[in-house]
Amino acid sequence: MTAADETASIDFTPPPEITALLSKRDHKLRMLPAIATEALELAKNPDCTISQFAAVVERDVKLASDMLKIANSALYCPASPILNLHRAVVRLGFRECQYLIMTASIASLMNRLPLEQEWIREVHTRHSFNTALLAVHLNRMLHFGFQGEEFTAGLMHDFGRILIAIVAPDRFQEIDPMDFEESPETLERERALIGTDHCRLGAWYAKQQKLPSALSDVILNHHQPELAEEGKVLATLIATADHMANHLQRFEEAEGYDPQSNPFWPDLSEHADPCVEKHFFELAPALMEVAQRDAESLLQC
Ligand SMILES: [Fe+2]
Ligand SMILES: [Fe+2]
Repeated sequence: MTAADETASIDFTPPPEITALLSKRDHKLRMLPAIATEALELAKNPDCTISQFAAVVERDVKLASDMLKIANSALYCPASPILNLHRAVVRLGFRECQYLIMTASIASLMNRLPLEQEWIREVHTRHSFNTALLAVHLNRMLHFGFQGEEFTAGLMHDFGRILIAIVAPDRFQEIDPMDFEESPETLERERALIGTDHCRLGAWYAKQQKLPSALSDVILNHHQPELAEEGKVLATLIATADHMANHLQRFEEAEGYDPQSNPFWPDLSEHADPCVEKHFFELAPALMEVAQRDAESLLQC
């Protein structure tokens, strides 16, 4: 098996000492509440009605209210408030609402993770929301037609970094300085120090949580989207957004970002609508400012 084959495969398990540490905290790391799993299962049934779906989700008051908060946030900007889940499904559609369940669940999990150092949660959450919102804006601008999976994937792409902070709190800064200066050595350093990297760990976690396999594929390959199997375009979109979000994290503003330096853009542009693709270079800094502003407002939710 070549290195590329190995990276592209998500059928791997992190070192047993890491999975043992994570399974000890299994209940604290569970992403989807039981109702969310039931609703996602139900939504797979083509005969499922909006009322049935909404009735299941409404049995989990926190999940339902988290979903409504996001449905009414800067992410969707509804013309009038969405007051209940039935309306949310009518407005956003079944597919988008399934990702809304995952998004609400991961956002809630991020808030209650058992982390020893609070700053890691804060920095990771801001970076995740910036990446997710950049993915949303790029998806809209370039007409890819993703329906919520780009936000969920953006939110989850670096979840493996948080898992590393949980299993190795004392060595975390040596493993991941959180400087957002990413290079091929970033993953090599992680593998050398803990025997896995945040992409593999995050993808393994997503698989354990029974998230869609395309999502695991994106998490696994967000540093090398060309290796993605199921979600190549989505992985390239997230990698492009991640590069922009890394700049925001380092400089706290879009100024100074050179879109030409984005190594993932040439591949992404091949899949974009040719009528709008040429605007990327002039619009990228503005998209970054909007995403950063929207992320701040979502973080207040
Ligand atoms: Fe990453
Ligand atoms: Fe990232």
